[in-house]
Amino acid sequence: MNILQITSSLRGAESESTRVAASIVAKLVAANPGALVSTRDLARDPHPVLDEAALGALFTPADSRTPEQAARVALDDALIAQVQAADVVVIGAPMYNFGIPVQLKSWFDAIARAGVTFRYTETGPEGLLKNKKVFVATARGGIYPVEADPQVPFVRMLLNFLGMTDHTFVYSAAQAMGPEASANGRAEADATVAALA
Ligand SMILES: Cc1cc2nc3c(=O)[nH]c(=O)nc-3n(C[C@H](O)[C@H](O)[C@H](O)COP(=O)(O)O)c2cc1C
Repeated sequence: MNILQITSSLRGAESESTRVAASIVAKLVAANPGALVSTRDLARDPHPVLDEAALGALFTPADSRTPEQAARVALDDALIAQVQAADVVVIGAPMYNFGIPVQLKSWFDAIARAGVTFRYTETGPEGLLKNKKVFVATARGGIYPVEADPQVPFVRMLLNFLGMTDHTFVYSAAQAMGPEASANGRAEADATVAALA
């Protein structure tokens, strides 16, 4: 089993989303001896944002790219290869300003490649990153009812679009609501992880 852990918190060892993601990975490894774990810490090793130059490189045919354009596309290629090789993807996703960190958005921008990780068919889009299990450990300062969660539907839509339809979200809520509430939020996340099959 190949496990890929994606980190996107800017809080290093203090990060709750990374703590929960790491506990999911530890549980997977314990249940699957010999599992290989690869990691990408997008805070320590950021992927460049999708900008005008990057888009120009992506839309230039491979044999016409400048060395700089080829190098930029190769950065995206490496992330695509890493996720393609994974059987399980564990994503740490802090909530920043009701969404995901720009570092994690850049990861999604990199791996969403038409014709490679998704394609359009006569019946609509088809995700090509199939047969993967995804866990998303999301930490947030507040508490959001499921029907009014501003972050999770977006992440779920991206995963589904790319074909990663088997996903489980683990919530660590109330991390900015004082020691007792944040401890309860962490305990709830730990209980969810403990109950994972
Ligand atoms: C830049 C920034 C923006 C944040 N925006 C939100 C927000 O919109 N809603 C919320 O509930 N918490 C917000 N928080 C609180 C974080 O979600 C919370 O601290 C969480 O634990 C971060 O995940 P981490 O511990 O993995 O870094 C924000 C924190 C930071 C640093």
